[in-house]
Amino acid sequence: MKIAFIGLGIMGSRMATNLLKNNVKITVYNRSQAPVQKLVELGATAGESIEKTVKDANIIFSMLSTPEVVQSVFLDDHKAIDYIQKGAIWVDCSTVNPSFTAQMAKEAAKRNVHFVDAPVAGTKPHAENAELVFFVGAKKAQLEIIEPYLAMMGKKTMQVGEVGKGSSFKMLVNLLLAQSMVIFSESILLGEKMGLDKQFLLDMLPNLVVAAPFTKFKAKMIESDDYEVQFPLEWMYKDLQLATTTAYEHQHPLFLASLTKDLYAKAIQEGLSRSDFAAIHQSLEGMQS
Ligand SMILES: NC(=O)c1ccc[n+]([C@@H]2O[C@H](COP(=O)([O-])OP(=O)(O)OC[C@H]3O[C@@H](n4cnc5c(N)ncnc54)[C@H](OP(=O)(O)O)[C@@H]3O)[C@@H](O)[C@H]2O)c1
Repeated sequence: MKIAFIGLGIMGSRMATNLLKNNVKITVYNRSQAPVQKLVELGATAGESIEKTVKDANIIFSMLSTPEVVQSVFLDDHKAIDYIQKGAIWVDCSTVNPSFTAQMAKEAAKRNVHFVDAPVAGTKPHAENAELVFFVGAKKAQLEIIEPYLAMMGKKTMQVGEVGKGSSFKMLVNLLLAQSMVIFSESILLGEKMGLDKQFLLDMLPNLVVAAPFTKFKAKMIESDDYEVQFPLEWMYKDLQLATTTAYEHQHPLFLASLTKDLYAKAIQEGLSRSDFAAIHQSLEGMQS
């Protein structure tokens, strides 16, 4: 199998590294060159162009930031999809909206390319330690082919359903994540106002059954006031926008997501786009002073 990997950001660079650790030969492509060089040092081949990167590949993984970027790389600007060989599988791991996924699957089918959506749960350390969970929308035949590679990058592959269902499920996960972070943060801030000890709150609240388990890790960021990026806040904002777009497509009211989205928008205005999304706490704290 010849494998191509496109998009070597926080997640993609670590996922591609795990393929290399398993002695998989990969050709990599990224807009900026520094991550490509790092991967080449680990044994990857640098794709000279998008055309050369995907041309011979049997499986193409992409891990790009937004639907607009996937569209630009695969269709509008770089037209990667036109160079993929017939019968190859394009596995998009980027977090995008289901209607976009459906559109990409349609474009792929026109070119006799198989499309799989396989967004991930987990952040930087999980990508690094091959502990991601893949939410896959795929036909059984394609899943069987890609599964061994997903297993090299993750600890679990969950087939949610047919193509599109992986990105649908992922959207719900991030809806919970974005909103739970705001709720956790507001609870801490109100607790402090009431004279409760901040450290006590950060230690106790995440361990209650009413708290989302991930808040244990984010409590450490709040405690140290260090929001070094794992999941960029700007992509959480994007995911909330995609959720509200999806709700609109279904004419389905989504009350809190719209409000939460605007809180993240404000944090971006404050310069927090490349901080971890837990930095929403810093933004909310600022609103109170
Ligand atoms: N970080 C997380 O914890 C996490 C967890 C789960 C899912 N995700 C999702 O995974 C995806 C990637 O996230 P990430 O954290 O790895 O993001 P990231 O570090 O910002 O990387 C984004 C990637 O997209 C590329 N890109 C951005 N704009 C581009 C453009 N105009 N043309 C071509 N390439 C472009 C970047 O290339 P450059 O290097 O040249 O900028 C980079 O390869 C996103 O959809 C995100 O929502 C992230």
